Amino acid sequence: MNRPPFSQRTAWDRTENPLTVMIALAQADGQGLVDLTESNPTRVGLFDSTPLIAALGHARGAVYAPIPLGVPLAREAVAAAFHERGLQARADRIVLSASSSESYSWIFKLLCERGDTVLIPAPSYPLFDFLARLEDVEVRRYPLLREENFRIDLDALERAITEAKGRARAIVLVHPNNPTGTFARRDEAKALSAIAAKNGMALVVDEVFSEYALGALPNDRLLSFVEENEALTFVLGGLSKSLLLPQCKLGWTLVNGPDDLVDEAIARLELIADTYLSVSTPVQLALPALLQGRKEVQQAVIERVTKNLEALDRALQIAGEHGAARRLPIDGGWYAILEVPRTRDEDEWVTLLVREHGVIVHPGYFFDMERDGFLVVSLLPPVEAFAEAIQKVVTVVSQG
Ligand SMILES: Cc1ncc(COP(=O)(O)O)c(C=O)c1O
Repeated sequence: MNRPPFSQRTAWDRTENPLTVMIALAQADGQGLVDLTESNPTRVGLFDSTPLIAALGHARGAVYAPIPLGVPLAREAVAAAFHERGLQARADRIVLSASSSESYSWIFKLLCERGDTVLIPAPSYPLFDFLARLEDVEVRRYPLLREENFRIDLDALERAITEAKGRARAIVLVHPNNPTGTFARRDEAKALSAIAAKNGMALVVDEVFSEYALGALPNDRLLSFVEENEALTFVLGGLSKSLLLPQCKLGWTLVNGPDDLVDEAIARLELIADTYLSVSTPVQLALPALLQGRKEVQQAVIERVTKNLEALDRALQIAGEHGAARRLPIDGGWYAILEVPRTRDEDEWVTLLVREHGVIVHPGYFFDMERDGFLVVSLLPPVEAFAEAIQKVVTVVSQG
């Protein structure tokens, strides 16, 4: 038979992960599971988005006048939102897309030939392998050092660049990282920019969670990379996290760096964007009105996350010093990492928690933790359900 007409880049192993199968079976069994992996912000009863969504129905959205980089009033609204955070951002350096995932794919198309490499952090967000593969791009991981509060291992990063043999095109950073919740130190940001500039690479900084710092950041931490300009830098954000509206499909990329590189990058991104024209007109035109609502929404998230963290810490305190579980510190974001005894592997912990206690958690390996012995929970679920479920998790893991 001739070769079937499908590309290698879509030849994923689609076998279901045994944990997913186990959880689906438990759910089908009618077990009322509490899902501590829930991070879909539209499903956790945080706020009623109906009034915001209503802005999409305005008659101005009835006319289609495509502008590839995004309509000026929408780009200006994103710049204004940066200004309100005390960050300098030029509207003409902002590119709209349908989501941060799409922004990544456009940036990889912009920077990489087939077989080029992008460097991604480990641990981090588990979508990079897919995003890169769809653009025929290779990934290499650089470690964040858990023992040093996830400091970037700059030596390992430089080694990974060397190992890519001249084909490393971008350093990706998630800031604050998912799930470690760490913001970069200022000295790390400077070093990353310098390494990128020295090696003719770009920095791609995913700041979708950057508005979710928990309390004031320590002075040595950087709030945002938007003002970093030594290397060509792409800062990603979007409605899915800034406003809890993933269904609205609008993301943005702020491009910064040496002027000639920024101009060239934007001119090329404009061509990519023009090929797809993927952002809907109604959402672009509604963006100024939508962004007005963001402080309230973000406050609600921060309150929820803070309460859930307190419940987690209370449970750990009750388990006492010999409780054998520990929460890793976070600066922000929606996730917490629990270090648990390695008396069972992560799959065994997850299975035990689902089958015997009706609670779903993520294994740490899902996020590329460097070793076994971690569970990850979302801090978005409703507080009462979260408190009860996390208490069970802590009690179970404390028993070893
Ligand atoms: C770090 C990070 N970046 C990007 C995304 C995806 O955002 P979007 O909906 O804009 O594609 C997520 C979603 O969970 C995320 O955790």
